[in-house]
Amino acid sequence: MTWGKVIGGALALVLALIVLDKQGMLRAPPPKPRPAATVAAAPPAAVPGPAFRPTEETPDAFPDGNGRDEAFYLCTGCHGTALVKAQGMGRQQWDDTVSWMVEKHKMPEPDPATRGLVLDYLAAVFPPRAQQQRGWVNPFANR
Ligand code: HEC
Repeated sequence: MTWGKVIGGALALVLALIVLDKQGMLRAPPPKPRPAATVAAAPPAAVPGPAFRPTEETPDAFPDGNGRDEAFYLCTGCHGTALVKAQGMGRQQWDDTVSWMVEKHKMPEPDPATRGLVLDYLAAVFPPRAQQQRGWVNPFANR
């Protein structure tokens, strides 16, 4: 083999590579055009009802009594009935609780008539525990 042949062969190889490159055979295929951005996601369905309620509770989650509905709508805007039902207090303590909800938690101040009605209701259906139970009471007894 002569140097001429070696150089000739090398040139031929380079030319072949150039041709292949021009034809695009040595390059990665060009990126495919991205599909147009899909239509923006549909907005979340409107919250049903006149006002957002964090729970599906209805006033009958509270025991029957005069002022039940008022208490329900006043007191379940931020938490369920369970927090309220867990308490047993006198009217004064319920009054303090309502003030606490207004001052600390920004509950809208109820008008005096509603406040009185709700306090009467709460004190009647969730009285201090000591009044409900005298001594040990079997929690499983059907009272
Ligand atoms: C504006 C919002 C809001 C409203 C309306 C509201 N509360 Fe509350 N309440 C809270 C928050 C927040 C907590 C829990 C944080 C805390 O204990 O400070 C709470 C906690 C409570 C608790 C539990 C206290 C404890 O010792 O664990 C009771 C009882 C209560 N609320 C009663 C009521 C009553 C009764 C009403 C209606 C007159 C009412 N809340 C209305 C915001 C509210």
